[in-house]
Amino acid sequence: MVASRLSKVCLFGFEPDDPNRAHIQDLDVISVLDEADSPSSFGDWAQRLGDEIDFVIVHLDHRDKLAIIEQLTSILPRCRVIAVGPPDSTLIVSAMRLGCAQFVPVPIDPEDLRSAIASAKTDRGETWETKRLCVIGTSGGSGATTISCSLAAELGAQGSSVVIVDLDLEFGGVACAFDCSAEHTLASLCIKAPVDKDMVRSSLVDLPDNISILARPNDMEQIYEVTPEKLKVVLDILNTLFPYVIIDMSRINGELGRVALQDADRILIVLQSSVMSVRNANRILKILNKTGVDPDKIEAVINRSQSKDAHGAFKELASYVKCPVYTRVPNDYSQVQSSLDRGVMAVSNKGSQMHAAIREIAARLTGIDIQAKNAPHGWLDRLLGLIKPAH
Ligand SMILES: Nc1ncnc2c1ncn2[C@@H]1O[C@H](COP(=O)(O)OP(=O)(O)OP(=O)(O)O)[C@@H](O)[C@H]1O
Ligand SMILES: [Mg+2]
Repeated sequence: MVASRLSKVCLFGFEPDDPNRAHIQDLDVISVLDEADSPSSFGDWAQRLGDEIDFVIVHLDHRDKLAIIEQLTSILPRCRVIAVGPPDSTLIVSAMRLGCAQFVPVPIDPEDLRSAIASAKTDRGETWETKRLCVIGTSGGSGATTISCSLAAELGAQGSSVVIVDLDLEFGGVACAFDCSAEHTLASLCIKAPVDKDMVRSSLVDLPDNISILARPNDMEQIYEVTPEKLKVVLDILNTLFPYVIIDMSRINGELGRVALQDADRILIVLQSSVMSVRNANRILKILNKTGVDPDKIEAVINRSQSKDAHGAFKELASYVKCPVYTRVPNDYSQVQSSLDRGVMAVSNKGSQMHAAIREIAARLTGIDIQAKNAPHGWLDRLLGLIKPAH
């Protein structure tokens, strides 16, 4: 299991006043280890930083500099080269032929660079593979349950087995979202402690499409059966049974939440476009920080974003949240309602923006973007299509 981590990069060939450097240094998925402008530094990097360097970002402002790629890859065979330079097709094709992993045109668009790094990581077999994902809402109805269930449905549809644990013991709506009732629940399981694998397995509701549910207690008085110690045992067993465990936490949830968060690989904070939601998100981040949660594991999404909120407003709101906010999930009443009516949280309209947003979050959890993997897109893919023989 590999949790999200910063990629360690060295920079090569950037002029002192090159404005592209700031775009690289500001990117929240990388950490810059060193910088050089002469190939004589490659030996020093190999000695000092050898195994640490994930990528070298090379400024290829001219074809004369192409030889740098060969020199680099012979001295540092493990690290990969990402080139940045003018969008000159001959330069790009030559760079890729020499073994450059990705090419980002200048002036650098930070989002282009982010996806180049993500693709290069996937090529290296490095992924943000997640086992346990905790989803926390920032206010009543912010969409934690909808996002948890939609993500589970998306992962299930992609062929992964996933279990959703409903940790909103009082009002949890996971079973309801999938239009099922649960004879056995998290509470009835905890009553039987000590629990073993078979008991956990038989307490799940198994649904089509690789999804299982561990539901909230049927009777409210049973919520006290779920103690932090028993919850930990159950979650540890689920970790051994499923590749993905999604915990719909509702809120931080005191000691129970602490147990769930303890071994989380990823934490998703669900906001709505409101000041209160942003404030609550930052309060949640503060407590996560105090609890010792690795900040690299945390991201937020803004849910129910209105179309008038489009990109600019989303970015402004996101700038107030003290963790990365990658995704805007649109407000799509008909999509959510039709999923609820059908009792399947799969976002049914595969072409919809809502589905694109859920798929984007799922891709970050798994490190695999099914569509991006299958379909060429963007100018670089089209360009490289020229040098890849058609099958
Ligand atoms: N992106 C969306 N577009 C439209 N409606 C949505 C969206 N996300 C959630 N909803 C609707 O908002 C309501 C609240 O969503 P949900 O139950 O997922 O929130 P929650 O954070 O889990 O709430 P709670 O605080 O009760 O646990 C539901 O009726 C759901 O259908
Ligand atoms: Mg909920």
